Amino acid sequence: MIELAFSILSADFAHLADEIATATRGGGTIIHVDVMDGHFVPNITFGPPVVKAIRPVTKLPLDCHLMIEDPDKFIPAFAEAGADMVSVHVEACRHLNRTLQLIADHGMAAGVVLNPATPVEMVAEVLPMVHHVLVMSVNPGFGGQKFLPRAVDRIAHLARLRSELGWNYRIEVDGGISRETVGSVVRAGADMLVAGSAIFQSGKTEANAVEFLRLARSAGERLA
Ligand code: DX5
Ligand code: ZN
Repeated sequence: MIELAFSILSADFAHLADEIATATRGGGTIIHVDVMDGHFVPNITFGPPVVKAIRPVTKLPLDCHLMIEDPDKFIPAFAEAGADMVSVHVEACRHLNRTLQLIADHGMAAGVVLNPATPVEMVAEVLPMVHHVLVMSVNPGFGGQKFLPRAVDRIAHLARLRSELGWNYRIEVDGGISRETVGSVVRAGADMLVAGSAIFQSGKTEANAVEFLRLARSAGERLA
């Protein structure tokens, strides 16, 4: 199933509950929470207290993308705050298998993230144990960046491995996903589509989400 994971990084933080409600009315089914620490990426955003604050205002799953050093230290706090999915960067984890197991042990769906310059082979050994693989289609740190088209081949590679090896992970893509780029990533095999600026722009959040999903699903149907 193709799903829109809207990134609240581009929402109006002063009205987060309303922004979430509007994007949900537009068809968004996952809330993507971009957690940045100013070390792993050159920007700071939010952490477990914000996850805890939005937990009671929505029934949608909270997908926390940790762009932080030493994620193990914070995984229990995200679980406690109400996160449903947690993704960690392979580049930030010295003991990736242990970190993914820790996420699962806390009752959350574990995902692994690849920066644009990281070969897909770096996650080969953990593919059987992850709920999703997140392919970055920008260098992480900021919303509103330009899509890096090499992501399409990387998604196709992961989709091929999934069917050849019989694994079940979902393929998430994040960065510069818009009406223009969404078709290419869906055709390559992505099914969790992160979008921030494409959704929360021009004061037309609901309509943006509806149109985004229409384009994504029509690209998906042409595949079937
Ligand atoms: C970038 C974040 C993305 C970002 C996407 O580091 O991981 O989730 O919010 O924003 P857009 O959709 O504007 O590229
Ligand atoms: Zn993200």
